[in-house]
Amino acid sequence: MQTAIVYTTTHGTTEKVVAKMQDLLGKQDTVTFNLKNKKDIDLSQFEGIIIGGSIHAGMIQKRVKDFCRENMSVLLQKPLGLFICGMNVPEYQSQLEKAFPEELRKHAKSTKVVGGEFLFEKMNFFQKLIVKKISGIKESISKIDENMIEEFIMEFKSNGD
Ligand SMILES: Cc1cc2nc3c(=O)[nH]c(=O)nc-3n(C[C@H](O)[C@H](O)[C@H](O)COP(=O)(O)O)c2cc1C
Repeated sequence: MQTAIVYTTTHGTTEKVVAKMQDLLGKQDTVTFNLKNKKDIDLSQFEGIIIGGSIHAGMIQKRVKDFCRENMSVLLQKPLGLFICGMNVPEYQSQLEKAFPEELRKHAKSTKVVGGEFLFEKMNFFQKLIVKKISGIKESISKIDENMIEEFIMEFKSNGD
């Protein structure tokens, strides 16, 4: 039985994180779904589910929220992992709490913020302006937390003892 990794990405960082998770879990044991391309996923055929997205202006993408809401009952019956990408370290915890419903967070084997990137070459004019103003950062930077990704996968795979 395989793990489904369901995600969405704005500038490609969450997709990089998903690729790393797929490496750690084994490519043959995982199937990835980008919610931009596929919304109706038959989760019943998977043993475990990982859901991820990224934070923009304090919020996770709406399509991740919708997916969680629409699939709540099946998600509560399977081993679950929840993660977000973000760059605003002081807000990590509160953003995580807002991103996923409490019921799912309580049920999840692992819930983590795995860092993120600012990719100026992929931002539009307004995004550049906002990021510069709020973070003071003016050049592309990668702060993907590889250790956190490994910890996340270890917790997700653990059998709780
Ligand atoms: C316009 C904009 C707003 C952002 N707002 C937040 C934020 O409120 N909190 C945060 O932690 N990160 C914020 N970020 C950082 C993103 O979460 C980070 O760039 C992430 O790696 C994006 O992943 P993605 O390319 O998969 O969408 C913001 C980034 C951009 C470009």
